[in-house]
Amino acid sequence: ATIDWDVEATGKGSYEHFMLKEIHEQPDAIGNTIRGRLNHQLDSTRLGGLNMTPHDMAKINRIVIAGCGSSMHAGWVGEYYFEEIARIPTEVEQAAEFRYRNPIITPDTLVLPISQSGETADTLAAVREATNKGATVAAICNVVGSTIAREAGRGVYLHAGPEISVASTKGFTCQVTALLMLAVMFGRNRHLGREQGAELLKEIASIPDLIRQVLKQAPVIERIAAKYVKADNFFYIGRGYLYPTALEGALKLKEISYVHAEGYHAAELKHGSIALLEENVPVVAMANAVPGQDKMIGNIRECLARHAPVIAVVSGDDHTADELADDIIRVPMSSRYVAPLTTIVALQLFAYYFAKFRGCPIDQPRNLAKSVTVE
Ligand code: G6P
Repeated sequence: ATIDWDVEATGKGSYEHFMLKEIHEQPDAIGNTIRGRLNHQLDSTRLGGLNMTPHDMAKINRIVIAGCGSSMHAGWVGEYYFEEIARIPTEVEQAAEFRYRNPIITPDTLVLPISQSGETADTLAAVREATNKGATVAAICNVVGSTIAREAGRGVYLHAGPEISVASTKGFTCQVTALLMLAVMFGRNRHLGREQGAELLKEIASIPDLIRQVLKQAPVIERIAAKYVKADNFFYIGRGYLYPTALEGALKLKEISYVHAEGYHAAELKHGSIALLEENVPVVAMANAVPGQDKMIGNIRECLARHAPVIAVVSGDDHTADELADDIIRVPMSSRYVAPLTTIVALQLFAYYFAKFRGCPIDQPRNLAKSVTVE
Protein backbone atom coordinates (compact mmCIF):
# COMPACT_ATOMS: atom_id res chain seq x y z
CA ALA A 1 0.00 0.00 0.00
CA THR A 2 1.15 3.50 -0.64
CA ILE A 3 0.66 6.34 1.76
CA ASP A 4 0.21 9.53 -0.18
CA TRP A 5 -0.11 12.04 2.64
CA ASP A 6 0.95 15.47 1.54
CA VAL A 7 4.52 15.93 2.76
CA GLU A 8 3.74 19.54 3.68
CA ALA A 9 0.96 18.37 5.93
CA THR A 10 3.28 16.11 7.87
CA GLY A 11 5.51 18.84 9.30
CA LYS A 12 5.51 19.43 13.04
CA GLY A 13 4.68 23.09 12.62
CA SER A 14 5.31 24.97 15.86
CA TYR A 15 4.97 21.84 17.99
CA GLU A 16 7.99 20.21 19.59
CA HIS A 17 6.71 16.71 18.83
CA PHE A 18 4.28 15.11 16.45
CA MET A 19 2.49 13.63 19.42
CA LEU A 20 1.70 17.06 20.84
CA LYS A 21 0.66 18.31 17.42
CA GLU A 22 -1.64 15.34 16.93
CA ILE A 23 -3.13 15.72 20.41
CA HIS A 24 -4.00 19.32 19.51
CA GLU A 25 -5.35 18.32 16.11
CA GLN A 26 -8.05 16.20 17.70
CA PRO A 27 -10.92 18.70 17.56
CA ASP A 28 -10.36 19.13 13.81
CA ALA A 29 -9.63 15.46 13.19
CA ILE A 30 -12.83 14.40 14.95
CA GLY A 31 -14.66 17.14 13.08
CA ASN A 32 -13.47 15.46 9.88
CA THR A 33 -14.61 12.05 11.09
CA ILE A 34 -18.06 13.47 11.77
CA ARG A 35 -18.42 15.72 8.71
CA GLY A 36 -21.33 14.86 6.43
CA ARG A 37 -22.28 11.88 8.56
CA LEU A 38 -24.95 13.30 10.85
CA ASN A 39 -28.37 12.77 9.33
CA HIS A 40 -30.71 15.23 11.03
CA GLN A 41 -33.64 14.22 8.83
CA LEU A 42 -33.63 10.74 10.28
CA ASP A 43 -32.00 11.56 13.63
CA SER A 44 -29.41 9.00 12.68
CA THR A 45 -25.95 8.83 11.18
CA ARG A 46 -24.99 8.13 7.60
CA LEU A 47 -21.93 5.95 7.04
CA GLY A 48 -22.12 5.25 3.33
CA GLY A 49 -18.88 3.28 3.15
CA LEU A 50 -20.55 0.55 5.16
CA ASN A 51 -22.65 -0.14 2.09
CA MET A 52 -25.37 -1.89 4.08
CA THR A 53 -29.11 -1.43 3.53
CA PRO A 54 -31.44 -1.09 6.53
CA HIS A 55 -32.41 -4.68 5.79
CA ASP A 56 -28.75 -5.84 5.87
CA MET A 57 -28.25 -4.00 9.15
CA ALA A 58 -31.35 -5.51 10.71
CA LYS A 59 -30.04 -9.00 10.02
CA ILE A 60 -26.86 -8.49 12.05
CA ASN A 61 -27.27 -10.24 15.36
CA ARG A 62 -23.73 -10.10 16.68
CA ILE A 63 -20.70 -7.85 16.32
CA VAL A 64 -17.09 -8.91 16.73
CA ILE A 65 -14.49 -6.16 16.90
CA ALA A 66 -10.84 -7.06 16.25
CA GLY A 67 -7.82 -4.84 16.77
CA CYS A 68 -4.46 -4.40 18.47
CA GLY A 69 -3.11 -1.86 20.93
CA SER A 70 -4.98 1.43 21.02
CA SER A 71 -7.33 0.22 18.30
CA MET A 72 -8.38 -2.68 20.54
CA HIS A 73 -8.99 -0.23 23.38
CA ALA A 74 -11.18 1.86 21.09
CA GLY A 75 -13.01 -1.37 20.30
CA TRP A 76 -13.79 -1.88 23.96
CA VAL A 77 -15.46 1.51 24.14
CA GLY A 78 -17.31 0.45 20.99
CA GLU A 79 -18.55 -2.70 22.71
CA TYR A 80 -20.24 -0.55 25.34
CA TYR A 81 -21.77 1.66 22.62
CA PHE A 82 -23.13 -1.20 20.52
CA GLU A 83 -24.61 -3.03 23.46
CA GLU A 84 -26.15 0.00 25.16
CA ILE A 85 -27.23 2.07 22.16
CA ALA A 86 -27.96 -0.59 19.52
CA ARG A 87 -28.60 -3.59 21.83
CA ILE A 88 -26.44 -5.85 19.66
CA PRO A 89 -24.32 -8.42 21.49
CA THR A 90 -20.72 -7.37 20.88
CA GLU A 91 -17.32 -8.69 21.79
CA VAL A 92 -13.81 -7.47 21.27
CA GLU A 93 -11.09 -9.86 20.22
CA GLN A 94 -7.41 -9.20 20.49
CA ALA A 95 -6.81 -9.56 16.74
CA ALA A 96 -3.97 -12.07 17.24
CA GLU A 97 -6.34 -14.44 19.04
CA PHE A 98 -9.15 -14.23 16.56
CA ARG A 99 -8.18 -16.74 13.92
CA TYR A 100 -6.53 -19.22 16.24
CA ARG A 101 -9.65 -19.97 18.20
CA ASN A 102 -11.93 -21.03 15.39
CA PRO A 103 -14.23 -18.06 15.95
CA ILE A 104 -17.98 -18.56 15.74
CA ILE A 105 -18.95 -16.59 12.66
CA THR A 106 -22.21 -16.70 10.74
CA PRO A 107 -23.43 -14.55 7.84
CA ASP A 108 -25.27 -12.50 10.48
CA THR A 109 -22.05 -11.62 12.28
CA LEU A 110 -20.57 -8.21 11.56
CA VAL A 111 -16.82 -8.21 12.02
CA LEU A 112 -15.29 -4.78 12.53
CA PRO A 113 -11.50 -4.74 12.24
CA ILE A 114 -10.10 -1.50 13.62
CA SER A 115 -6.69 -0.29 12.48
CA GLN A 116 -5.36 3.22 12.19
CA SER A 117 -2.67 2.19 9.68
CA GLY A 118 -4.71 -0.51 8.01
CA GLU A 119 -1.54 -2.60 7.87
CA THR A 120 -1.29 -4.41 11.21
CA ALA A 121 -0.57 -8.08 10.44
CA ASP A 122 -2.73 -9.61 13.17
CA THR A 123 -5.71 -7.46 12.28
CA LEU A 124 -5.28 -8.27 8.59
CA ALA A 125 -5.20 -11.97 9.45
CA ALA A 126 -8.48 -11.51 11.34
CA VAL A 127 -10.02 -9.82 8.27
CA ARG A 128 -9.02 -12.76 6.08
CA GLU A 129 -10.31 -15.33 8.56
CA ALA A 130 -13.63 -13.51 8.97
CA THR A 131 -14.03 -13.14 5.20
CA ASN A 132 -13.34 -16.84 4.64
CA LYS A 133 -15.96 -17.71 7.21
CA GLY A 134 -18.58 -15.63 5.44
CA ALA A 135 -18.95 -12.72 7.87
CA THR A 136 -19.82 -9.21 6.80
CA VAL A 137 -16.52 -7.39 7.32
CA ALA A 138 -16.35 -3.60 7.61
CA ALA A 139 -13.03 -1.96 8.44
CA ILE A 140 -12.50 1.14 10.53
CA CYS A 141 -9.25 2.57 9.16
CA ASN A 142 -7.53 5.89 8.84
CA VAL A 143 -5.11 5.28 5.99
CA VAL A 144 -7.08 5.36 2.74
CA GLY A 145 -6.36 2.45 0.43
CA SER A 146 -4.52 0.52 3.15
CA THR A 147 -4.49 -3.27 2.93
CA ILE A 148 -7.15 -3.84 5.57
CA ALA A 149 -9.44 -1.20 4.08
CA ARG A 150 -9.07 -2.71 0.62
CA GLU A 151 -9.53 -6.31 1.68
CA ALA A 152 -12.57 -5.55 3.78
CA GLY A 153 -14.07 -3.68 0.83
CA ARG A 154 -16.41 -1.71 3.07
CA GLY A 155 -16.09 0.33 6.20
CA VAL A 156 -15.56 3.74 7.71
CA TYR A 157 -12.59 5.98 7.03
CA LEU A 158 -11.61 8.27 9.88
CA HIS A 159 -10.24 11.17 7.78
CA ALA A 160 -8.05 12.03 10.77
CA GLY A 161 -5.07 13.01 8.62
CA PRO A 162 -1.63 11.45 9.00
CA GLU A 163 -0.71 10.14 12.42
CA ILE A 164 3.07 10.17 12.69
CA SER A 165 3.69 9.75 16.42
CA VAL A 166 4.04 6.06 17.29
CA ALA A 167 1.69 6.51 20.23
CA SER A 168 -1.81 6.85 18.79
CA THR A 169 -3.83 9.89 19.88
CA LYS A 170 -6.17 11.29 17.23
CA GLY A 171 -6.37 7.83 15.71
CA PHE A 172 -7.90 6.53 18.93
CA THR A 173 -10.36 9.38 19.48
CA CYS A 174 -11.52 9.30 15.86
CA GLN A 175 -12.01 5.53 16.10
CA VAL A 176 -14.14 5.95 19.21
CA THR A 177 -16.16 8.68 17.47
CA ALA A 178 -16.70 6.44 14.44
CA LEU A 179 -17.85 3.60 16.68
CA LEU A 180 -20.33 5.90 18.42
CA MET A 181 -21.72 6.95 15.06
CA LEU A 182 -21.98 3.32 13.96
CA ALA A 183 -23.84 2.41 17.15
CA VAL A 184 -26.29 5.24 16.55
CA MET A 185 -26.91 4.09 12.98
CA PHE A 186 -27.53 0.50 14.06
CA GLY A 187 -29.57 1.69 17.03
CA ARG A 188 -31.85 3.86 14.89
CA ASN A 189 -32.30 0.91 12.57
CA ARG A 190 -33.67 -1.01 15.59
CA HIS A 191 -35.17 0.13 18.86
CA LEU A 192 -33.49 3.49 19.42
CA GLY A 193 -36.11 6.24 19.37
CA ARG A 194 -35.95 9.46 17.36
CA GLU A 195 -35.49 11.58 20.43
CA GLN A 196 -32.59 9.52 21.71
CA GLY A 197 -31.09 9.58 18.24
CA ALA A 198 -31.38 13.37 18.09
CA GLU A 199 -29.83 13.68 21.55
CA LEU A 200 -26.89 11.50 20.51
CA LEU A 201 -26.35 13.53 17.33
CA LYS A 202 -26.15 16.66 19.46
CA GLU A 203 -23.58 15.01 21.68
CA ILE A 204 -21.51 13.84 18.74
CA ALA A 205 -21.53 17.32 17.24
CA SER A 206 -20.31 18.75 20.55
CA ILE A 207 -17.22 16.51 20.82
CA PRO A 208 -14.73 18.82 19.04
CA ASP A 209 -15.62 21.76 21.30
CA LEU A 210 -15.46 19.68 24.45
CA ILE A 211 -12.00 18.50 23.44
CA ARG A 212 -10.91 22.08 22.80
CA GLN A 213 -11.82 22.76 26.42
CA VAL A 214 -9.67 19.84 27.61
CA LEU A 215 -6.72 21.15 25.61
CA LYS A 216 -6.97 24.43 27.52
CA GLN A 217 -6.15 22.43 30.65
CA ALA A 218 -2.69 21.56 29.28
CA PRO A 219 -0.80 23.89 31.68
CA VAL A 220 -2.55 22.37 34.71
CA ILE A 221 -1.86 18.85 33.48
CA GLU A 222 1.77 19.77 32.79
CA ARG A 223 2.20 20.93 36.40
CA ILE A 224 0.71 17.71 37.75
CA ALA A 225 2.96 15.63 35.48
CA ALA A 226 6.00 17.52 36.81
CA LYS A 227 4.96 16.77 40.39
CA TYR A 228 4.97 13.00 39.80
CA VAL A 229 8.02 12.83 37.58
CA LYS A 230 9.89 10.53 40.00
CA ALA A 231 7.18 7.87 40.15
CA ASP A 232 8.15 4.57 38.51
CA ASN A 233 4.79 2.80 38.82
CA PHE A 234 1.28 3.98 38.14
CA PHE A 235 -2.19 2.54 38.24
CA TYR A 236 -5.03 3.87 36.10
CA ILE A 237 -8.47 2.86 37.28
CA GLY A 238 -11.90 3.28 35.76
CA ARG A 239 -15.34 1.72 35.49
CA GLY A 240 -17.91 1.43 32.70
CA TYR A 241 -17.01 3.50 29.65
CA LEU A 242 -14.00 4.77 31.52
CA TYR A 243 -12.55 1.31 32.08
CA PRO A 244 -11.15 1.02 28.52
CA THR A 245 -10.14 4.67 28.88
CA ALA A 246 -8.01 3.71 31.90
CA LEU A 247 -6.34 0.96 29.86
CA GLU A 248 -5.58 3.37 27.04
CA GLY A 249 -4.30 6.05 29.43
CA ALA A 250 -1.91 3.55 31.00
CA LEU A 251 -0.76 2.39 27.57
CA LYS A 252 0.12 5.99 26.59
CA LEU A 253 2.32 6.35 29.66
CA LYS A 254 4.08 3.02 29.08
CA GLU A 255 4.68 3.65 25.40
CA ILE A 256 6.35 7.01 25.65
CA SER A 257 7.74 7.32 29.19
CA TYR A 258 8.89 3.71 29.75
CA VAL A 259 7.30 3.85 33.17
CA HIS A 260 5.25 0.91 34.37
CA ALA A 261 1.56 1.71 34.33
CA GLU A 262 -1.31 -0.69 34.77
CA GLY A 263 -4.79 0.04 33.58
CA TYR A 264 -7.24 -1.73 35.82
CA HIS A 265 -10.90 -1.99 36.50
CA ALA A 266 -11.41 -0.02 39.70
CA ALA A 267 -13.33 -2.85 41.35
CA GLU A 268 -10.80 -5.49 40.31
CA LEU A 269 -7.91 -3.71 42.01
CA LYS A 270 -8.78 -5.12 45.39
CA HIS A 271 -8.57 -8.68 44.06
CA GLY A 272 -4.79 -8.64 44.13
CA SER A 273 -3.10 -5.61 42.64
CA ILE A 274 -3.98 -3.33 45.52
CA ALA A 275 -1.11 -5.11 47.30
CA LEU A 276 1.23 -3.02 45.14
CA LEU A 277 -0.09 0.33 46.31
CA GLU A 278 2.06 2.50 48.55
CA GLU A 279 3.04 6.14 48.78
CA ASN A 280 5.23 6.05 45.66
CA VAL A 281 2.57 4.52 43.42
CA PRO A 282 0.16 7.16 42.13
CA VAL A 283 -3.31 6.13 41.05
CA VAL A 284 -4.97 8.00 38.19
CA ALA A 285 -8.69 7.60 38.87
CA MET A 286 -11.50 8.33 36.42
CA ALA A 287 -13.94 10.00 38.82
CA ASN A 288 -16.10 11.71 36.17
CA ALA A 289 -19.72 12.47 36.99
CA VAL A 290 -21.13 9.49 35.08
CA PRO A 291 -22.93 6.36 36.28
CA GLY A 292 -20.71 4.43 38.69
CA GLN A 293 -19.11 7.54 40.16
CA ASP A 294 -20.29 6.69 43.69
CA LYS A 295 -18.55 3.33 43.45
CA MET A 296 -15.46 5.02 42.04
CA ILE A 297 -15.30 7.32 45.06
CA GLY A 298 -15.27 4.19 47.23
CA ASN A 299 -12.41 2.77 45.16
CA ILE A 300 -10.46 6.03 45.54
CA ARG A 301 -10.83 5.75 49.31
CA GLU A 302 -9.43 2.21 49.13
CA CYS A 303 -6.34 3.56 47.35
CA LEU A 304 -5.89 6.45 49.77
CA ALA A 305 -6.06 4.03 52.70
CA ARG A 306 -2.93 2.38 51.19
CA HIS A 307 -1.24 5.82 51.06
CA ALA A 308 -1.26 5.96 47.27
CA PRO A 309 -1.52 9.51 45.92
CA VAL A 310 -4.62 9.94 43.78
CA ILE A 311 -4.87 12.04 40.63
CA ALA A 312 -8.57 12.26 39.80
CA VAL A 313 -10.11 13.14 36.48
CA VAL A 314 -13.41 14.89 37.25
CA SER A 315 -16.18 16.55 35.26
CA GLY A 316 -16.99 20.23 35.00
CA ASP A 317 -17.92 21.81 38.29
CA ASP A 318 -18.63 18.53 40.02
CA HIS A 319 -16.78 18.65 43.34
CA THR A 320 -17.45 15.12 44.60
CA ALA A 321 -13.78 14.08 44.48
CA ASP A 322 -12.19 17.43 45.35
CA GLU A 323 -11.53 16.75 49.00
CA LEU A 324 -10.24 13.26 48.39
CA ALA A 325 -7.81 13.54 45.52
CA ASP A 326 -4.27 14.90 45.78
CA ASP A 327 -4.58 16.38 42.31
CA ILE A 328 -7.53 17.13 40.07
CA ILE A 329 -7.74 17.19 36.28
CA ARG A 330 -10.97 18.80 35.16
CA VAL A 331 -12.60 17.84 31.87
CA PRO A 332 -15.91 19.33 30.74
CA MET A 333 -19.16 17.78 31.92
CA SER A 334 -20.50 15.29 29.40
CA SER A 335 -22.57 12.16 29.14
CA ARG A 336 -20.98 8.75 29.66
CA TYR A 337 -20.79 8.36 25.88
CA VAL A 338 -18.48 11.32 25.40
CA ALA A 339 -16.54 11.02 28.67
CA PRO A 340 -14.03 8.49 27.25
CA LEU A 341 -13.06 11.05 24.61
CA THR A 342 -12.58 14.07 26.84
CA THR A 343 -10.86 11.97 29.48
CA ILE A 344 -8.36 10.28 27.19
CA VAL A 345 -7.22 13.65 25.84
CA ALA A 346 -6.32 14.67 29.40
CA LEU A 347 -4.45 11.38 29.88
CA GLN A 348 -2.60 11.82 26.57
CA LEU A 349 -1.41 15.23 27.73
CA PHE A 350 -0.39 13.79 31.10
CA ALA A 351 1.65 11.03 29.42
CA TYR A 352 3.19 13.54 27.01
CA TYR A 353 4.42 15.96 29.67
CA PHE A 354 5.48 13.18 32.01
CA ALA A 355 7.60 11.57 29.27
CA LYS A 356 9.01 14.94 28.29
CA PHE A 357 10.10 15.71 31.85
CA ARG A 358 11.77 12.30 31.97
CA GLY A 359 13.73 13.16 28.84
CA CYS A 360 12.14 10.57 26.56
CA PRO A 361 12.17 10.89 22.76
CA ILE A 362 8.32 10.69 22.59
CA ASP A 363 7.62 10.40 18.87
CA GLN A 364 9.71 7.29 18.35
CA PRO A 365 9.88 5.33 21.55
CA ARG A 366 12.38 2.50 21.83
CA ASN A 367 11.24 -0.98 20.74
CA LEU A 368 8.01 0.28 19.16
CA ALA A 369 6.88 0.64 15.56
CA LYS A 370 4.04 2.70 14.19
CA SER A 371 2.69 -0.27 12.37
CA VAL A 372 3.46 -3.88 13.29
CA THR A 373 3.43 -5.90 10.07
CA VAL A 374 4.60 -9.20 11.56
CA GLU A 375 2.51 -11.62 13.62
C1 G6P B 1 1.38 -0.53 17.05
C2 G6P B 1 1.40 0.93 17.49
C3 G6P B 1 0.19 1.24 18.38
C4 G6P B 1 -1.08 0.85 17.66
C5 G6P B 1 -1.06 -0.61 17.21
C6 G6P B 1 -2.20 -0.92 16.28
O1 G6P B 1 1.66 -1.33 18.15
O2 G6P B 1 2.60 1.22 18.19
O3 G6P B 1 0.16 2.63 18.68
O4 G6P B 1 -2.18 1.09 18.50
O5 G6P B 1 0.13 -0.88 16.48
O6 G6P B 1 -2.03 -0.19 15.10
P1 G6P B 1 -3.15 0.02 14.03
O7 G6P B 1 -2.51 0.77 12.91
O8 G6P B 1 -3.61 -1.35 13.61
O9 G6P B 1 -4.25 0.77 14.68
